[in-house]
Amino acid sequence: MSIEVKDISYTYMTKTPFERQALRNVTVTIEKGEFVAIIGHTGSGKSTLAEHLNGLLTPSTGTVCVDGVNLNGKGDKVRSAKHKVGIVFQYPEHQLFAETIYEDIAFGPRNSGKSEEEVEKQVRKAMGFVGLDYDAFSTRSPFQLSGGQMRRVAIAGVIAMDPEYLIMDEPSAGLDPISRDAIFAQLSTVFKERDIAVILITHSMEEAAQYASRLLVMAKGQIAIDGKTELVFKEQRERLQEVGVDIPESIKITDLLCEKGLKLEKQAITKEQLVQYIKKAKGWS
Ligand SMILES: Nc1ncnc2c1ncn2[C@@H]1O[C@H](COP(=O)(O)OP(=O)(O)OP(=O)(O)O)[C@@H](O)[C@H]1O
Ligand SMILES: [Mg+2]
Repeated sequence: MSIEVKDISYTYMTKTPFERQALRNVTVTIEKGEFVAIIGHTGSGKSTLAEHLNGLLTPSTGTVCVDGVNLNGKGDKVRSAKHKVGIVFQYPEHQLFAETIYEDIAFGPRNSGKSEEEVEKQVRKAMGFVGLDYDAFSTRSPFQLSGGQMRRVAIAGVIAMDPEYLIMDEPSAGLDPISRDAIFAQLSTVFKERDIAVILITHSMEEAAQYASRLLVMAKGQIAIDGKTELVFKEQRERLQEVGVDIPESIKITDLLCEKGLKLEKQAITKEQLVQYIKKAKGWS
């Protein structure tokens, strides 16, 4: 079970003076059960790739298949393949549309034919997931919220659909650190409990290092690097620099400590590893 992207290219506004090729011959397969982070310089094509994964955009050439079904087609099979893929958009206001938060989050589950009782259950669960109080928020308009609250409603709307492939395009933008950590903790639980795939687009190398086991690094509409997170950050530093991508702070601190004479047993890519290796090097544990 996977999303299989085969040799896709995509050009915006073809045959106009604003024509812009955003994807060039991208091939990648993401299996259920994987937690993948897509990173890359601004404008490298991350959101454009994401919008191909549930058929929102149709590739100019190439194919996208979800569990073996080509999304560039019609009929129930294609519709249900698209429904397996949930996207939290980069800009939450692009996602919200209903008069109340309840109606907005209820749209997905209701569309998939659930009873009203089940729909309400899903809405309550999804609001709990993102830390929005049901009684205080369900009847409010999604358009009278702060950016961070809108982001939470947008995430809840996608979570309520129980997607099998969950794509989140910079989900933590606009969230305060406490809400961000709470949402990621919930996400990690769902990821572990159910065999879903999570595709996280982020500019935070810390988020990528902490949660994703695989990294796709995009540059100029192509996948420049595809590999295990730890190996990419440790072994491809020059290439990352070339394509304008940073490395996690923990690696930089490991280097600094080494310069100052404290040699850690390994390079730490997360805060937790850094603490653990420092303790070991200092004989504190
Ligand atoms: N609606 C559009 N019309 C025309 N060009 C677009 C459109 N959306 C994106 N592009 C162009 O396509 C390229 C890829 O954009 P995309 O939004 O996929 O990048 P991104 O990696 O998600 O960037 P960011 O990190 O800033 O979100 C860019 O050159 C961008 O200018
Ligand atoms: Mg983007």
